[in-house]
Amino acid sequence: MDISDESTKAQQRPARAGLPVTRRDTLQGSAALALMPLAAGDVANAAQTPARTVPAAGLRLRTTVNGQAVELDIDARSSLLDLLRERLALTGAKKGCDHGQCGACTVHVDGKRIASCLTLAAKVGGREVLTIEGLSNGAPLHPMQQAFIDHDALQCGYCTPGQIMAAVALVQEGNATSKDRIREYMSGNICRCGAYVGIVAAIEDAAAKMGAA
Ligand code: FES
Ligand code: FES
Repeated sequence: MDISDESTKAQQRPARAGLPVTRRDTLQGSAALALMPLAAGDVANAAQTPARTVPAAGLRLRTTVNGQAVELDIDARSSLLDLLRERLALTGAKKGCDHGQCGACTVHVDGKRIASCLTLAAKVGGREVLTIEGLSNGAPLHPMQQAFIDHDALQCGYCTPGQIMAAVALVQEGNATSKDRIREYMSGNICRCGAYVGIVAAIEDAAAKMGAA
């Protein structure tokens, strides 16, 4: 429902005691209810009602992260991003928005880029997770990391791990064929420093080197 629907309905509500129902009436009514003292019976009932808690649903996760077998008990509600950052101390993937909108948390699962903030850790059981920490696979730097340095493709660096993981996947997907295509396929990764010109140049450069490799 959009705001205009809500607004229209509010205008159509019947007048109360000759007065229109306004948002202020509603808020005042709510406040009065909130401040109204509880009857003695209500207090007794409240004391007997156990506090509502949501039990943590645990499970055993077995997966591979950066080539290493990982096995640990997790909360089934945990995101992959929280698992990486808070349980495995892999803080390269960043929590920019936690809503799948910025790309700062991008990692690879079975070679595909994903937003780890939107992925349940439980979903990566038996799969291969690759983060920025494992990207160079023992080499000093991956060609994409070196290209980001060579082309000044970062300023604060907060978005950079996600940009690089997305860029590597983009090249592997065969989408580094033109500047426009790179821009389109990197559009899920936001850089609030605006380092986009350098990012596109770095991807073109690294794509050539990755192809040569
Ligand atoms: S933190 Fe995952 S997309 Fe922003
Ligand atoms: S380099 Fe600062 S947000 Fe991208």
